[in-house]
Amino acid sequence: MKSFVNHPARILVTSALPYANGPIHIGHLVEYIQTDIWVRFQKLSGRRCVYVCADDTHGTAIMISARKAGISEEAFIARVNEEHQRDFAGFQIQFDNYGSTNCPENRELCGIFWKKLRDAGLIKEKSINQLYDVTAGTFLADRFVKGTCPVCKSPNQYGDNCDKCTATYTPADLIDPVSTLSGTKPEIRSATHLFVELEKLHGFLHDWTQSGEHLQSEVANYLKGHFLGDELRDWDVSRPAPYFGFEIPDSPGNYWYVWFDAPIGYIASTWQWCKTHGEQLADWWQSADCEVHHFIGKDIQYFHTLFWPGMLKTAGYNLPEQVHIHGFLTVGGEKMSKSKGTFVRAATFLKHLDPAALRYYYASKLGPRLDDLDLNPDEFIDKVNSDLVGKVVNLASRTAKFVLEKGLSEKYPDDGGLFAQGAAAGAAIAEAYQNCDFARATRLIMELADRANPYIDTQAPWKLAKDPAKASDVRDVCTVGLNLFRQLVVYLTPILPKLAEEVGQLLNEPITGWEQSQQPLIGSKIQPYAHLFKRVEKKDFEAMIEEEKVAAAAIEAANAPASTAPAAAPQDTAAALEAEPLLTEQISIDDFTKVDLRVARVLEASEVPEAKKLLKLKLSMGGGVERQVFAGIKAAYKPEQLVGRLVIMVANLAPRQMKFGLSEGMVTACGPGGAEVFLLALDEGATPGMRVH
Ligand code: 2FM
Ligand code: ZN
Repeated sequence: MKSFVNHPARILVTSALPYANGPIHIGHLVEYIQTDIWVRFQKLSGRRCVYVCADDTHGTAIMISARKAGISEEAFIARVNEEHQRDFAGFQIQFDNYGSTNCPENRELCGIFWKKLRDAGLIKEKSINQLYDVTAGTFLADRFVKGTCPVCKSPNQYGDNCDKCTATYTPADLIDPVSTLSGTKPEIRSATHLFVELEKLHGFLHDWTQSGEHLQSEVANYLKGHFLGDELRDWDVSRPAPYFGFEIPDSPGNYWYVWFDAPIGYIASTWQWCKTHGEQLADWWQSADCEVHHFIGKDIQYFHTLFWPGMLKTAGYNLPEQVHIHGFLTVGGEKMSKSKGTFVRAATFLKHLDPAALRYYYASKLGPRLDDLDLNPDEFIDKVNSDLVGKVVNLASRTAKFVLEKGLSEKYPDDGGLFAQGAAAGAAIAEAYQNCDFARATRLIMELADRANPYIDTQAPWKLAKDPAKASDVRDVCTVGLNLFRQLVVYLTPILPKLAEEVGQLLNEPITGWEQSQQPLIGSKIQPYAHLFKRVEKKDFEAMIEEEKVAAAAIEAANAPASTAPAAAPQDTAAALEAEPLLTEQISIDDFTKVDLRVARVLEASEVPEAKKLLKLKLSMGGGVERQVFAGIKAAYKPEQLVGRLVIMVANLAPRQMKFGLSEGMVTACGPGGAEVFLLALDEGATPGMRVH
């Protein structure tokens, strides 16, 4: 890695553009938190740094998802964009611009890049065989085909590469391919595609990747070992209609492949920022005074270290100064899993836990290499509580109240050299941030905290405060304590921006620059101490996992083919809708009237001992008709609360034989599940048997 002595006039930073076909989850957040910390460190250090990102909106996956949702692709990606921005803001990820690859700036830039590639003689046409799903009416993108790996014969592999032997191939090479869209066997159709002849850039790519300047050494070695030793394959950059993306101006009916326009989206998003800030795009992307830094995961290193530098070089744009690559997230040592509830969506996390806790925990685990990062629940809880509550916030909570009246001492007292030691550690902490070694940065900061706490323990201002003659000592001790605390908070600002803001208010001086760690604050008035950080509770973590489990089960049930789908318990159906709003398909009035919703009265309600979630209900439908229904509402309602009340039931749901008896319908309810399930109520006058229109 490069050592940073001279800093450029401008730094442009990006994180990978998230696909616009699903929610942000804690796996994504590793990268956005990592980048945000790095950017905040640059800004705190007084550098001109701009952080841009955007949704990656094109491709077959999004086209299919929009179709499923019954809305246009534009409406679909607009909705997702809003959700993504909301989630990022919740985790205090602060972009200077968050755009979309489906914007006019990106279309224009794609045209510019394309022309440069054409002019450089790098584009050629080839007819290729591609798999076509006749039922879905579309060519199949790599990820929409599964089959047996043509190299190692492992079954159930995607169309682009094999999980087992890492071979890369085209979907048409798969043995026994099946379309994941329709479950049918696709047919092979031939179509003309446009390719970039990457081999013509081999020399340049070799030198750029192997210079030791821009990539982590393991990445450079991987590229050398896996790609640069052989001829580089032509890169297929077009897709035939139907495709959601930009049509290639000089090749009607063909569209740029999503991976062609996605990285250009980095520049498009910068351009949007330039337009609103009176800046010139060339100063950020075509200038020796600007460093471009990409942050990505190891799954997409191929695109960012070969194709993208090749495109930038050809088009005359800045090459990345560094591509910072991180590993994957595991939870409890395992791959994130929807059914185990560890595939935690950002929005779910925010409902249960403090985002600052995740920012700190990830920071404490992130090093400069590509190692995977494990979110271990117990370690997460222990580390956050012991470091942030026990070592940092504790310094303020034990001292602030004693100086509320007089404020900090006018002269910084003798602290035995503690503040000076802390100031001296600043250079090493800054270097760790700069090198993306946040684990080291947090370790160094906690070492300082470990020196500050014994000082407060020994001086015990709460004891001194009992003796009015020692008022001046109390003020001095607390001035030291609060200054050591503030020094730690300045160092933690890139990781914990909200804490820094609150501490700025507490001490009446906002935290705005790294250099504030070098000078103690004196004479400042103090605001009343307000709680700065709440302990992480295990039960909250568990509730979050449970919510994801319930949602995953509901989604699975909702997506299962009709003949095999278990009748979803009411709370599951509701959770599914909340969990996956994007699956809400448009239906016609005829579809709606097929569902016979009726008012029913609960005649009897009882627990089903063998079933954790179910209550058995006997319902009157009016006119002497009675039905038995098993409803998953046990955590929310006691049987006696239900007897006599009206509910709305789906009366024409096919009866389902359960272990405990026949369920002859479904009671409707809303809410995320578990104890948070709410039956629908009716106004006075409704009687059993009435139909809901
Ligand atoms: O892997 C992904 O999630 C892609 N959407 C990343 C694109 S990064 C850039 F090239 F746009
Ligand atoms: Zn294989």
